[in-house]
Amino acid sequence: MKNIAIRFIVIVFPAFLLVACGKSGNNGTTSKYLIGFSQCNSAEPWREAMNKQMESEVAKHSEIKLIISDAQQSNAKQVADVENFIVRGVDLLMISPNEAQPLTGIVEKAYDKGIPVIVIDRKILSNKYTCFIGANNEQIGREAGKYAAELLNGKGTIVEISGLKGSTPAIERHNGFMDGIKDYPDIKIIYSQDGAWLREKGRSIMENALQRFEKIDLVYGHNDPMAIGAYLAAQYVGRTKDIYFIGIDGLLGSEGGVQAVADNKLNATFIYPTGGEIAIQTALKILKGENVLKNITLSTIEITPKNAKEYLAEEHK
Ligand code: FRU
Repeated sequence: MKNIAIRFIVIVFPAFLLVACGKSGNNGTTSKYLIGFSQCNSAEPWREAMNKQMESEVAKHSEIKLIISDAQQSNAKQVADVENFIVRGVDLLMISPNEAQPLTGIVEKAYDKGIPVIVIDRKILSNKYTCFIGANNEQIGREAGKYAAELLNGKGTIVEISGLKGSTPAIERHNGFMDGIKDYPDIKIIYSQDGAWLREKGRSIMENALQRFEKIDLVYGHNDPMAIGAYLAAQYVGRTKDIYFIGIDGLLGSEGGVQAVADNKLNATFIYPTGGEIAIQTALKILKGENVLKNITLSTIEITPKNAKEYLAEEHK
């Protein structure tokens, strides 16, 4: 009898502790649901903002425990991260895939195992997911193109700094932009390079462009960091006055795109919401068995020197 009791303490009790720790909530209580979020990288400011939004929303719901993994821009690491979440038995998977094609298989695997999946901001090449949350990148690209045409009065040369080519926002922001300028045959994209969403790459692409082309009228960066990187390269050689700069993201804060517009570095940006908060709210609905839309489209706002300061003041209220 005594032996059995000891065995119970030695084997069953630690096993119980392990389960309890695995799903221990934010306030120390045992949480009901374990959510794994596979972030393609946590280093960029926009992604940091997304993670923070998720964490503060999770803090309101003790029944959820959230684990965020950082793939550091590596497709291979992200596949391994998702695999780990599957093995760990997450109740729901959220993912913002680094690139579409390399991550499609592992997301399908999770979905086929019955794990609900929320895909955020960047898409996969399959409809095997529960819900996609993100803004309409094609529409943002189109609005950027129309605004570029307006700034250029229908004529001029453009350098495009693309996001990572295998990620869907880069493809959609390019296609939308081309559509936005299609009625202006005198607007030409003279140079288009993959800046991988990174400010430093944006800067070096622009350094090359400045050396190659005497006349650049506008830079279209698929995100603000790359557009700001390009601005810095132009500033270094004293050419910012001749060039318009357009970015996308519109983060708040001193390093963000809205401030860059207010400071007349960028001529426009487009708010690209991270969706962190709504992702957690949607996850909770799915976990409780409620129906959610297959696609949740987040809205955008065009920020120009006309509304940048007002927008900043409004947000800081
Ligand atoms: C951050 C980011 C944003 C961009 C988004 C597109 O990783 O590059 O700047 O809007 O990803 O997926």
